[in-house]
Amino acid sequence: MAPTREYRNIALVGFMGAGKSTVGHLLAEILAFEFIDTDRVIELRQNRRVADIFEKDGEPFFRALERDLCRELESSANRVIATGGGMPVDPSNAESLRGHCLVVCLWASPETLYERVRHQSHRPLLQEPDPLARIRSLLVARTPAYRQSDILVGVDFRAPLDTARQIATSFRRARGPVMPARAPRA
Ligand code: S3P
Repeated sequence: MAPTREYRNIALVGFMGAGKSTVGHLLAEILAFEFIDTDRVIELRQNRRVADIFEKDGEPFFRALERDLCRELESSANRVIATGGGMPVDPSNAESLRGHCLVVCLWASPETLYERVRHQSHRPLLQEPDPLARIRSLLVARTPAYRQSDILVGVDFRAPLDTARQIATSFRRARGPVMPARAPRA
């Protein structure tokens, strides 16, 4: 029999610009969970931006930090975790997240993603002459990984608050009734 899943947390996965942080903040507020963003945790610990890490130490170094953080998060409870867009692409990270999270992918078309990120400069993977082409090719390569998520939510035409509410409902349903604390003996 397949082992039952433990849904202590929610992991938001998906491409850069899909809205993981915006939705994550709202979702954490709805559920009264703690919100964490893996990129921000790495930046705070390294005391530098993700772009600087890529530039000075290279992508493999960043991926190693990301993998370590992913393992560390296994002991989390009651957290909404917004992951970096590449985190679940590493199968060991995907498996690690599935061990304690309901994994929710925010899915948007390349055109929507491009519109959202085109005026931003902090994403090293998109600093290219043709970012839309890069988004398309990365998205094709990553689709199998993103499709492993428990739930896929299309965000092209959905406001962040609606998305957050929908995920909260799915999470409560997946988790089932939470057992009340046992009453103390009289
Ligand atoms: C990356 C996404 C970024 C960040 C890094 C690499 C990716 O996070 O982790 O620039 O590989 O897709 P966001 O998805 O939060 O932008």
